Amino acid sequence: MTTNKKKKIMVIFGTRPEATKMAPVIQELRSTGLSWFNTTVVVTGQHKEQLYQALENFNLKADVDLNIMKERQTLTYITTSAISGLSQVIENEKPDLVLVHGDTQTAMCGALAAFYNQVPVGHVEAGLRSFNKYSPYPEEVNRKVADVVSDILFAPTNNGRVNLLREAYPEKDIFVTGQTSVDAALSMYNSNYNFIDEKIREIDFKNNRVIAVTAHRRENYGAPLRQMFSAMRRIVDEYPDTLLVYPVHLSPVVREVAFELLSDHDRIMLTDPLIFSDMLNLMARSYLVLSDSGGLQEESSVFRTPMVLMRDTTERPEALEANTVVLSGTEEDKIYTITSNLLSNVKDYTRMKNAVNPFGDGKASQRIVKYLAYHFGLIQEKPQEFES
Ligand code: UD1
Repeated sequence: MTTNKKKKIMVIFGTRPEATKMAPVIQELRSTGLSWFNTTVVVTGQHKEQLYQALENFNLKADVDLNIMKERQTLTYITTSAISGLSQVIENEKPDLVLVHGDTQTAMCGALAAFYNQVPVGHVEAGLRSFNKYSPYPEEVNRKVADVVSDILFAPTNNGRVNLLREAYPEKDIFVTGQTSVDAALSMYNSNYNFIDEKIREIDFKNNRVIAVTAHRRENYGAPLRQMFSAMRRIVDEYPDTLLVYPVHLSPVVREVAFELLSDHDRIMLTDPLIFSDMLNLMARSYLVLSDSGGLQEESSVFRTPMVLMRDTTERPEALEANTVVLSGTEEDKIYTITSNLLSNVKDYTRMKNAVNPFGDGKASQRIVKYLAYHFGLIQEKPQEFES
């Protein structure tokens, strides 16, 4: 094994959440890992504005941008354009390892494109499973495909390791790191934070119970989104001290329904997507989070802001076990009842508020970079895993 030549690591992603969760890894690769690795950042541009906003927040720039996004893009379109574009980049650059993150279309395509070029793959956030291929859709299948072609499986918690072992992945390929989203959240939180978005800056967090919202999953397009939004209206009507703040995803499918059902209420604030640091600090100061997101389950847990998860399943059962998140499904009545309980039942709310974050300790990126050095024989000692 060579120890004198830097290894080439190519980090591939395409959407906002991958960018925020890979940013701490890239920063670590380029600081602690600088003497071991040359790091290239390749983005598919599956997202445009939301991705660039996230990169800017971490002072990062893409070295290569495939710029594939188009309005109302289909999964087939994203997959075919990402695979052919990424394959070409990998063929040209010949990295020693490709790193992908999580479960998006870009993650799956990055892993497959590397595999087709016989380049080893490291999958950050490996082993998550909801055991339902249509929820979250298509993410459950994306992350399975990424795991199948990966050589290193960076499971965030022991739960990921257990899932992978159950599917007969070799134990030696699995390394438990903690969630990089915890690293990102801790690096962006500031108790004296000054919001960049003017509307958010003016919110009176002391005299309002702020409910931070996100909702944009593909499986919820149509009737489920309508049910969610109706439940939200009922909640703010019922509780006059609540203020609902919803940065609406740029997807036109989501925006149409959100603005139709929620735009004319004086205690519902619809904004454009917030920059990551604004979103995190908003969540940290909110009374509740209502969302169908994957990553927000981790971030709200870091800040001990109880979260109602508007989905039927979660691939993050740790959050349910730890009681930082409660699952509500997507029906109006159920979302209303569960949220209403948290707004009126102090005992239940406090129990969630005091629950402990099970996802990480802020050192996941360090572990990943050290493990990569160990994997390439650049250091002799295997780093310690995260114990969840
Ligand atoms: C994607 C990911 C999802 C991730 C989410 C985060 C897949 C299948 N889904 O879902 O896992 O949680 O990103 O947001 O990979 N758009 C813009 N500007 C942007 C971003 C999106 O206009 O900056 C619009 C485009 O019109 C696009 C639509 O949003 O067609 C939907 O984006 P897409 O990437 O297809 O799906 P997401 O729902 O964002």
